[in-house]
Amino acid sequence: MTKQAEAAKGDSIHRGNPVTVDRYTAAARLNHWITAISLVLLALSGLALFHPSLYFLTGLFGGGALTRMIHPFIGVVLLLSFIGLFLRFWKLNLWERTDSVWLGRLRDVLTKNDEKLPEVGKYNAGQKLVFWSMSLLIVLLVASGVVIWQQFFSEYFKVEQQRVAVLIHSILAIVMICVWIVHVYAAIWVRGTIGAMTRGRVTGGWAWRHHRRWLRELVSGKSKVGPKEVTPAE
Ligand code: HEM
Repeated sequence: MTKQAEAAKGDSIHRGNPVTVDRYTAAARLNHWITAISLVLLALSGLALFHPSLYFLTGLFGGGALTRMIHPFIGVVLLLSFIGLFLRFWKLNLWERTDSVWLGRLRDVLTKNDEKLPEVGKYNAGQKLVFWSMSLLIVLLVASGVVIWQQFFSEYFKVEQQRVAVLIHSILAIVMICVWIVHVYAAIWVRGTIGAMTRGRVTGGWAWRHHRRWLRELVSGKSKVGPKEVTPAE
């Protein structure tokens, strides 16, 4: 298997104190936050329809009828937006042999024993698992969602099929919310990560500690897709 490139378009290093490394372009960040906002709105509107005790959440969307109408359309926004993220990041999330080694040393990951772990490219095994889980879950949520989108598709599916789809859709949604919590928790737990998605850059120290193979590739300029220049920080 050929070694995958570790850097994406726009990744580059800036000299300075501290050294900073560009990790996400403005377009990638915008794409990410549209996806994130859509998922939060979907979770809130979905929970509002899920159980009577959560019905009060419909107040956020202008009442029960509007919530029911808006929810699937936000799902379409999420799907389109996630396709953008998928196309940007799927190659960097391909599984490698070292990912299995990293995962096998989960104890060292959790105790932040970074020096005992294999060097990581742009994404570690945990991030890759979250990425592929999100990809699969979104496809399945959209597919089951279409079956129960009565406004447009009720005539294409039997009531029995719709009942099964509601159950599947609800279970998948709960799994998706759990994956989302893991994603956000990890982003907060690994200090310095949130800045990657807000400002687009991380410190050289963060990259050295958590994604050393990615940093090495940027320094050596061997990345097939990333620019090779090292520019002074503003
Ligand atoms: C709303 C709360 C969210 C926060 C605070 C958040 C935060 C972050 C941060 C900090 C990163 C950069 C991680 C890194 O570069 O090491 C990231 C990456 C990413 N996020 Fe989120 N995120 C959120 C929601 C979402 C949602 C809802 C999705 C998709 C449904 C998503 C999909 C992704 C993807 C695909 C990446 C690129 C990492 C990869 O490809 O493995 N995020 N997020």
